[in-house]
Amino acid sequence: MKGKTGPVRAVILLICVIMFSWAGKGEAARMMASREGQTCIDCHKVQSPSFVKEWEISRHAQRNVDCYTCHKAEKTNPAAMEHNGFTITVLVTPKDCSKCHPKEVEEMTTSHHAKAGDILNSLDNYLGEVVGGPEAVAVGCVQCHGAKVKVLANGKLDTNSWPNTGIGRINPDGSKGSCSACHTRHSFSKAQAREPEACGKCHLGPDHPQKEVYEESKHGILYAHGKDKLNMYRERWVVGRDYTAAPTCATCHMSATPGQAVTHDVGARISWNLRPAISAKQENADKKRDSMKDVCNSCHSAPFIEGHYKQFDNLVALYDDKFAKPATAIRKELLARGKLTQAGFDNKLDWIYWDLWHDAGRRARHGAAMSGPDYAWWKGIFDVAKDFYTEFLPEVRRVAGPELYSELMKKYIEPDVRHEWYSKGMSKEQLKKIQEYYKERYGTGEAK
Ligand code: HEC
Ligand code: HEC
Ligand code: HEC
Ligand code: HEC
Ligand code: HEC
Ligand code: HEC
Ligand code: HEC
Ligand code: HEC
Repeated sequence: MKGKTGPVRAVILLICVIMFSWAGKGEAARMMASREGQTCIDCHKVQSPSFVKEWEISRHAQRNVDCYTCHKAEKTNPAAMEHNGFTITVLVTPKDCSKCHPKEVEEMTTSHHAKAGDILNSLDNYLGEVVGGPEAVAVGCVQCHGAKVKVLANGKLDTNSWPNTGIGRINPDGSKGSCSACHTRHSFSKAQAREPEACGKCHLGPDHPQKEVYEESKHGILYAHGKDKLNMYRERWVVGRDYTAAPTCATCHMSATPGQAVTHDVGARISWNLRPAISAKQENADKKRDSMKDVCNSCHSAPFIEGHYKQFDNLVALYDDKFAKPATAIRKELLARGKLTQAGFDNKLDWIYWDLWHDAGRRARHGAAMSGPDYAWWKGIFDVAKDFYTEFLPEVRRVAGPELYSELMKKYIEPDVRHEWYSKGMSKEQLKKIQEYYKERYGTGEAK
């Protein structure tokens, strides 16, 4: 028996070799491009290999979506340019992607992300362009928000407006948004977009610290510990089925649940708009909230989720009713009575008010929305209260003068018992209780 296995082995080996080389050819064939595309690849492989290498590892390479498929341009395209005998465009916009991904493009286009470039007439932009300067806007605001990409006469892109992968980029072909904001070229990977870092370029900092809130939350801790158990490279990525170790930003805002498909409308599951000075309910808020609760449901019980939303709504109401509404109304009266100019940011009160709602007020609400206690309190309501009591009201007194100040206090502050400690001072009983606490805890009657 033994003697006979030699030739059999050799034949098997030969078959294996042939099969492997075929499989290898199969790989190559699957990555073969159109004739035009091959011309791009041959030259770019030498001139700029990283474009080709990143493309080679993408799903597109496996499906014959090559350089030319994406970059080819009609002569009528304002951003078309001649390039080594081809008419191409550097920008590959959602309109180009929509030929093969209509659902994703439709959802993205109707979402707030696609509207992020329309910030030109906002107060933020006045702050950026006038108070700061356009050079800062070019490398700041528009790299997150997107802005109009301008084209020069020869089809080249104006370097004052390019590079730019801002989320609401306004493209020369009229489409809005940039898909490479989350799927960087040329790997165009969905695994990458499932990671919280994909959102972290924009969703961080003093005015919208979603990334930091996430990192300090239990969910972020779970992610740090269980990242390698998340199966990010799976074709389908359904929470509760394909992974349970942690939710990422995408899990809650975009990815599939057993009952919901992936959405490219990041507003589909949020019930509040926490961006304005005073919070606003989204349209169809209840339905949107139910869609989010369905995500939580994969890992939590219904009463747990109810509790979270109750605490979140309570915090939003506290911020709105106790601080944002009176501050907004008082500032409005000062404007109406000519105590402030309409110019914006030319006086201290505007800066205090801005910090109160745009930074501290948002931090508090985002902290509560996504379970980041430090943002909800220390970087949130603590800062709101500090702004309100130690800066805003004293500055109102200075600007308004004693008579008007007292009128404003009577109208906006005194009716709310939650401000009594400030307008009337702490009661004797409260002070006594506090002293007793410190005595018991530290052996002295004084707060340290
Ligand atoms: C003969 C070589 C060659 C061929 C063929 C070629 N390219 Fe290029 N391409 C280059 C080089 C070199 C650059 C870099 C130019 C530079 O750095 O200014 C470039 C730049 C580009 C750019 C960026 C242009 C810009 O203004 O930023 C794009 C997009 C591009 N090529 C796509 C393609 C596509 C798509 C094809 C095939 C239809 C193609 N290229 C064919 C050599 C080539
Ligand atoms: C799925 C579509 C797609 C395919 C396939 C594709 N590109 Fe691109 N390419 C893009 C997008 C998107 C951008 C970024 C421009 C933007 O933001 O609109 C880009 C940008 C570029 C740039 C300019 C970026 C820079 O850093 O200078 C070059 C050069 C380029 N591509 C070359 C290639 C080459 C070469 C291939 C083939 C190996 C290729 N592309 C395949 C979509 C594609
Ligand atoms: C000519 C058709 C075509 C165009 C144009 C195209 N794609 Fe694709 N794309 C595909 C195909 C085919 C797949 C593989 C889908 C599959 O296997 O289900 C794919 C897959 C993807 C994936 C999933 C990759 C993964 O990790 O599984 C992303 C993300 C993607 N495309 C983004 C884009 C973006 C962004 C653009 C425009 C810049 C674009 N595509 C343009 C055909 C195209
Ligand atoms: C680091 C990225 C980044 C930078 C830089 C940035 N923003 Fe934003 N901006 C965002 C994000 C993210 C949001 C949404 C936050 C949220 O939903 O809580 C936002 C929200 C806004 C809004 C509110 C939009 C609405 O629908 O209510 C305006 C207006 C705005 N930004 C303008 C600007 C201007 C003007 C600048 C520069 C002076 C700027 N932003 C700088 C990322 C950025
Ligand atoms: C805000 C970030 C973000 C932007 C912007 C974005 N995507 Fe995605 N995309 C994702 C995430 C996250 C996934 C993975 C969802 C999942 O399967 O969990 C994804 C998945 C995809 C897929 C795979 C879909 C599937 O069912 O497998 C395609 C195709 C795609 N995106 C195309 C696009 C196109 C085209 C654009 C531009 C119009 C775009 N994306 C813009 C985050 C983004
Ligand atoms: C390139 C910057 C950028 C990236 C990357 C980005 N966003 Fe945004 N996002 C923004 C801006 C800017 C806004 C505010 C748009 C506006 O109000 O006009 C926003 C708004 C949102 C909103 C509020 C939507 C609404 O309808 O009110 C959600 C939720 C959101 N983003 C989630 C995400 C998630 C999740 C990711 C990652 C998968 C992500 N974003 C990636 C810039 C970005
Ligand atoms: C466990 C689920 C979960 C995770 C993980 C999560 N979010 Fe959220 N997010 C929420 C909930 C819940 C809300 C509030 C929904 C509402 O308004 O009803 C929210 C609100 C938001 C908003 C709207 C804020 C506004 O100003 O109106 C943005 C933007 C956002 N999240 C971005 C992110 C980003 C970026 C990440 C990752 C760094 C992330 N989220 C992680 C659940 C999550
Ligand atoms: C992939 C699973 C998963 C998803 C999805 C998920 N969570 Fe969690 N969440 C957890 C786990 C695990 C913990 C940790 C519980 C513990 O401390 O033992 C947690 C903790 C929490 C906590 C407690 C925070 C703390 O500091 O103790 C809250 C509140 C919470 N989640 C709310 C939500 C909400 C609201 C959603 C949906 C918007 C959600 N979670 C979605 C897994 C998930």
